[in-house]
Amino acid sequence: MQDISDYYRCTGKKTALVPTMGFLHKGHVSLIKKAKENNDITVVSIFVNPMQFGVNEDFDKYPRDFKKDYDICKEAGVDYIFNPEIYEMYNKSLTEVTVKEITGRLEGKFRPGHFTGVATVVLKLINAVKPHNIYLGQKDAQQNAVLKKMVSDLNADVIINICETVREENGLAMSSRNSYLTPEQKSNASILYFLLNEGRKRVLENNFEDTEAIKVEISVLLKQKHPDIELQYYEITDNDRLDNISDLKNYKGEVLISLAAKVGSTRLIDNIVFIKQ
Ligand code: PAJ
Repeated sequence: MQDISDYYRCTGKKTALVPTMGFLHKGHVSLIKKAKENNDITVVSIFVNPMQFGVNEDFDKYPRDFKKDYDICKEAGVDYIFNPEIYEMYNKSLTEVTVKEITGRLEGKFRPGHFTGVATVVLKLINAVKPHNIYLGQKDAQQNAVLKKMVSDLNADVIINICETVREENGLAMSSRNSYLTPEQKSNASILYFLLNEGRKRVLENNFEDTEAIKVEISVLLKQKHPDIELQYYEITDNDRLDNISDLKNYKGEVLISLAAKVGSTRLIDNIVFIKQ
C-alpha cells in the first residue's frame, strides 16, 4: 500500500482514506461519495481492529462480509480496498497511541482502552495509506474528537473531514451493529433519535440552568415509552473537549448531545451536534 500511495503523492494526486471495519452500509457509502467528490484516489480500509474491542465485547461475532463489501466498494467507484490481516497490522507491536482526558468521558467510561485501540489503528492506517484527506462520520462523535486531537498533537499530515450521520427512515442511525437487532428492536430503537431531538429542543428553549434537569426529563420520557431500553449515558457537552456544559443558560457555541443505550443485548450509540447562540 505504501508504494502505491508514494506513487500517487509523487504524481500530485489527492488521496482519500475512508477507514472502516467493514459490513458496509449507506453511512459508509456517504463517506466514500464525499471522498470521491474531493479527491483523485479513494482508498477504503476494511479491518476489524481487535485492539479496540474489550475482552467481553463482540470482536468474534462482529458482522463480516467481504464479498458484499467488495461489491459495494466497486459500485461506489472505490479505487483501492486496504484489507490487512491482523498479523500484518500488529506484528509483535509494542507501541500504542493514547489520547488523554477526552477518552475518559462518555464511551471511555464504558469501554476502557477502546480509544487507544482506535487511535493506534487509525495512525497506522494513515501511515500506511498516506492520505491527504480522511473521512469520518458524525455518528462517532467522540472518536472524531479523539482523532482530531491525535492528528493535531502528533502533527499527522492529514485533514479530517466529518460527514453527516445517515439514518434509517425512522431516525435510527445506520450501524453495522444494527444487524444484531430484530425488526421490533429496530423499530423501538428509533426512540434514541427522538430523545436526542427532545434534548436539543430543551437546550434551545434556554429555560434550563443546567443539564441535569434535562437528563431527568429524558429518562422519564424513555421510561414512559420504552422501559426495556437501558440508557447507559445521555450527556450534553461541548463538541471539542466533551466537557459537561455546567452553565447551560449562558453557554454559546457547539453543543453535542450523545447517548449510549442497550436495546436487548445490543449496545448502540448516537449523537447530534448543533449551535446554541
Ligand atoms: P466503522 O464503525 O466501520 O465506521 C467507519 C466510519 O463510518 C466511521 O467514521 C463512522 O463514524 C462512519 N459511520 C458509521 N455509521 C455511519 C452513519 N450512519 N452515517 C455516517 N457515517 C457513519 O468507526 C470505525 O469503524 C472504527 O472505529 C475505525 C475508525 C475504522 C477504526 O477501526
